[in-house]
Amino acid sequence: MTSNEFMFSVFPYVTIIIALVVTPIRYFVKRFSYSSLSSQFLENKQLFWGSVPWHYGIILILGGHLLGLIIPQSVLAWNGVPWRLYVLEGTGLSLAFLTIFGLIMLMVRRAVQPRIRAVTSVMDVVILLALFVQVFAGIWTAIFYRWGSSWYAAAAAPYLWSIFSFNPNISLVENLPLMVKIHIIDAFFLVSLLPFSRLVHFLSLPLQYIWRSPQVVVWNQSVGAVTNSQIKG
Ligand code: HEM
Repeated sequence: MTSNEFMFSVFPYVTIIIALVVTPIRYFVKRFSYSSLSSQFLENKQLFWGSVPWHYGIILILGGHLLGLIIPQSVLAWNGVPWRLYVLEGTGLSLAFLTIFGLIMLMVRRAVQPRIRAVTSVMDVVILLALFVQVFAGIWTAIFYRWGSSWYAAAAAPYLWSIFSFNPNISLVENLPLMVKIHIIDAFFLVSLLPFSRLVHFLSLPLQYIWRSPQVVVWNQSVGAVTNSQIKG
């Protein structure tokens, strides 16, 4: 078996099986860990500048990937007119810069805020690095291997469908440039990390927030009176 065969036709299944098996186990065995383990109470300002751009950027970009997967023919038809291709690529790239800005802010926050460092696990570091590699490789791909939105629809989407239909067709991806391969392999690596990290929180959409009555949070003493020594206990 060649390294390409292993990475593009075996590794994806290993990661998907890990995610499918371990994710429900975590849900039933450690249900309260099914969370982003928010650190907002420990530091909020830098979190805002990291979390907001990161989430808006990555959700829209992954939405774009999903569209290319579900309606590749429509993406190709849209890209048939040059200005529409530029709009799509320009929007994707702008969102990618927003995303990487947010991600870097989140990484810096974990590195420089002592309180956040104290609650940072090895998995938090691994996940941030894997996400950084993913977004960086995506930006690299978009800039240097044009026009990615078209060949994503024509080659990457059929490859992904070949995986989902248990008939991997690695000829669609084995000759792609290294950075694109890293982008694809790291995406599957992230899938395998899902149940072991705080990334799992994206599966628990708090939908009841939409209709439940607002929750009022009240400090039981003035914030100013809470000194650092009290917080440290
Ligand atoms: C965890 C999953 C993934 C994340 C977070 C991610 C993220 C990104 C980001 C941030 C970009 C740059 C934004 C853009 O220009 O559109 C990008 C571009 C791209 N990604 Fe992904 N990606 C993921 C999975 C994949 C997979 C599985 C494939 C292919 C099998 C893929 C193929 C591409 C291609 C071809 C581009 C270039 C698009 C263009 O030039 O417009 N991505 N990705």
